[in-house]
Amino acid sequence: MLLNEDEIPRQWYNLAADLPTPLQPPLGPDGNPITPEMLAPVFPMNLIEQEMSQERWIDIPEGILDILYRWRPSPLHRAKYLEEALGTPARIYYKNESLSPAGSHKPNTAVAQAWYNKEFGIKKITTETGAGQWGSALAFACSLLDLECKVFMVRISFDQKPFRKVMMETWGGTCIASPSNETQAGRDILAKFPDTPGSLGMAISEAVEAAVTDPKGETRYALGSVLNHVMLHQTIIGLEAKKQLEKFGEKKVDVVIACAGGGSNFAGLAFPFISDKINGADIDIIPVEPSSCPTMTHAPFVYDHGDTAKLTPLLPMYSLGHNFVPPPIHAGGLRYHGMSPLVSQAIVEGLITPRAIHQLECYKSAILFARTEGIIIAPETSHAVAAAIQEANKAKEEGKEKVIIFNLSGHGLMDLVGYQKFFNGELEDYAYPKEEIYKSLKVLDGLPKPSLAKSGKW
Ligand SMILES: Cc1ncc(COP(=O)(O)O)c(C=O)c1O
Repeated sequence: MLLNEDEIPRQWYNLAADLPTPLQPPLGPDGNPITPEMLAPVFPMNLIEQEMSQERWIDIPEGILDILYRWRPSPLHRAKYLEEALGTPARIYYKNESLSPAGSHKPNTAVAQAWYNKEFGIKKITTETGAGQWGSALAFACSLLDLECKVFMVRISFDQKPFRKVMMETWGGTCIASPSNETQAGRDILAKFPDTPGSLGMAISEAVEAAVTDPKGETRYALGSVLNHVMLHQTIIGLEAKKQLEKFGEKKVDVVIACAGGGSNFAGLAFPFISDKINGADIDIIPVEPSSCPTMTHAPFVYDHGDTAKLTPLLPMYSLGHNFVPPPIHAGGLRYHGMSPLVSQAIVEGLITPRAIHQLECYKSAILFARTEGIIIAPETSHAVAAAIQEANKAKEEGKEKVIIFNLSGHGLMDLVGYQKFFNGELEDYAYPKEEIYKSLKVLDGLPKPSLAKSGKW
């Protein structure tokens, strides 16, 4: 189901305006809420204002829409062939974000963030990337807006996915493996752990340091997920999807599913549906994560830093601890120790129900999807497909004609090494041992606790 250009949403939806309990503020090193001025060396003020906004609807500037038209509105597909293969009475729909130039949902916010930085007079943007989807999306956006772009890519993904670096370079960006010797944070980590596979937490420390130490003050940092303004920019996905479901003749949605690393692709599809749920709709909304990095399903709701070197403010979120180094499974984009504060708050409020799934089930689901619907999906996306299949099978057992929608967050054409390892029988399931999680949570001792935190949960 396609929409015309003139049907594209012209405003983003801000869930912060509708949460039953207001979002708790990020805290500075002294334990007090941070002020916009404190964030000014890291982000441009126009994005800081958006980060703190309580407005329900925020206009999308024409300059951003002009770029988004290159691939938006994105199609909503009915997964008829997958339904047939499963023999389910459910109707399964997927929003196809794999058609963006970089191959995922990430350009929706990369373009917006690059545009706001440019408006503010910034010349260069630094960032981190896990699987490389975000780094390439930002390099793409910066090339269109004539900004320099430097990406710190988690070492293990840098080695597993060399062609993502080539994509970034093709768009004029630079990409280096993290931890690196280019920053103090990187050097400190390498001195302690010379063989570390890296983590998003480490790469964020490096990218933030690289931005704030620019002597000319012309560099800012961009984050590909987690923060409120990133969730906001992605809501165009769910807003389009609602119009498309209506055109398909669907009056009610039963299940909404998306994978969640830092939470942005989930937020993008799900937040407009969470709004319906707050207003009384009966919908199961499921963010899906890997069992090997079980932030939402096994970690506590706490205040924690977004990065290893503790350069970021304390955010109220589900967190496995800022030093958590997840095992090198292939869904690099889902290996983050924390979760978006907005998504975290929606969990605490009982609006959404997270689920963890093992790697092998995800790959099997991805292969069934490729052999029915045709698209070879990213390993991150396979978590959403696996959950959609679980839900479709449940509908079959119950004999119910449910409507299921999931976000196809990216294609997997740069991730074929993972598929190859699966076919060679080299992948295995891995659940992070509870004792190791307890150890990793030790770094939270002494940090402030958000209200609504359940004491002793872990
Ligand atoms: C294809 C794809 N899907 C999902 C994610 C998860 O990120 P987020 O939770 O921010 O959407 C990533 C992250 O890199 C990704 O590349």
